[in-house]
Amino acid sequence: MMTSVAPRVESLASSGIQSIPKEYIRPQEELTSIGNVFEEVQKEEGPQVPTIDLKEIESEDKEVRERCRLELKKAAMDWGVMHLVNHGISEELMDRVREVGQKFFQLPIEEKEKYANDQGSGMIQGYGSKLANNASGQLEWEDYFFHLVYPEDKRDLSIWPKTPTDYTEITSAYARQLRGLASKILSALSLCLGLEQGRLEKEVGGLEQLLLQMKINYYPKCPQPELALGVEAHTDVSALTFILHNMVPGLQLFYQGKWVTAKCVPNSIIMHIGDTIEILSNGKFKSILHRGLVNKEKVRISWAVFCEPPKDKIILKPLPETVSETEPPLFPPRTFAQHIEHKLFRKTQDALSK
Ligand code: OGA
Ligand code: NI
Repeated sequence: MMTSVAPRVESLASSGIQSIPKEYIRPQEELTSIGNVFEEVQKEEGPQVPTIDLKEIESEDKEVRERCRLELKKAAMDWGVMHLVNHGISEELMDRVREVGQKFFQLPIEEKEKYANDQGSGMIQGYGSKLANNASGQLEWEDYFFHLVYPEDKRDLSIWPKTPTDYTEITSAYARQLRGLASKILSALSLCLGLEQGRLEKEVGGLEQLLLQMKINYYPKCPQPELALGVEAHTDVSALTFILHNMVPGLQLFYQGKWVTAKCVPNSIIMHIGDTIEILSNGKFKSILHRGLVNKEKVRISWAVFCEPPKDKIILKPLPETVSETEPPLFPPRTFAQHIEHKLFRKTQDALSK
């Protein structure tokens, strides 16, 4: 097993430093928009991330069902991110997912290192921290654990945390529940676009090929939170992303030219429309730019599950039904892998032109 020397943010955070290494300091232009997250989250004025109640999404009553779907549609078109409530996943299961993940991160760093990934040799699953991907050497204030959780036959259980002992059972149960929720959402979104209900599910790979990848984001306390980001601004490449967190604020959404801080809604699951659905819907559903703030006082943990189409088997492009004379295709055909490559290329070009 590789004995990684990658710096863990957790070890930096616990070393007692009063100022953070320069690699974690954001560029000057960005610093002006980073505030104290506990103050930001209190703000009541201005737009707020919508909350969608899914209770009626499968109602027997057609009218009730359609009303619920319409709310989802508006949120998907306007924000592309929302708090889902009455999503059907039990509070108890969500609590246990948080508990087992938290217990893993409470292990000493040496124990977690036994699960270290090796990005250089393509082993992307496991415990890791971001490696700088351009000349600026910019880093993020987080460590993470990344692993495929569904379909079950594609999991590599040998790399999953063995401590706590119920990690695998609980995380697998959650993944199964989320897979069901993803189907419900894809079905509703299909109907919203005037498509047959199974269409988006099929377009992203169906039960066999849609991959659910869990990333547990662990954001240690940061001595200078107004200089750093936990995750830098990005859009998710996934079809859909589902996020649980430990009720510590941090997520911000770039809406109408301003950063909006998401409130913590009890028992909700945050859902993002990712680039994949944005492309298939020809931009009708939005993949919103977002980032994560850190703070001095509380460790923040989030469990993001990315529902991704297969890398090379499917060519993503606006569905013919979403294109017309007045609505030309906004995205060229690309596989998921090509889409990721294209984003990376653009980012590198941007960095070079500064
Ligand atoms: C991500 C992400 C936000 C969060 O992992 O892609 O945007 O709240 N995380 O941790
Ligand atoms: Ni994200």
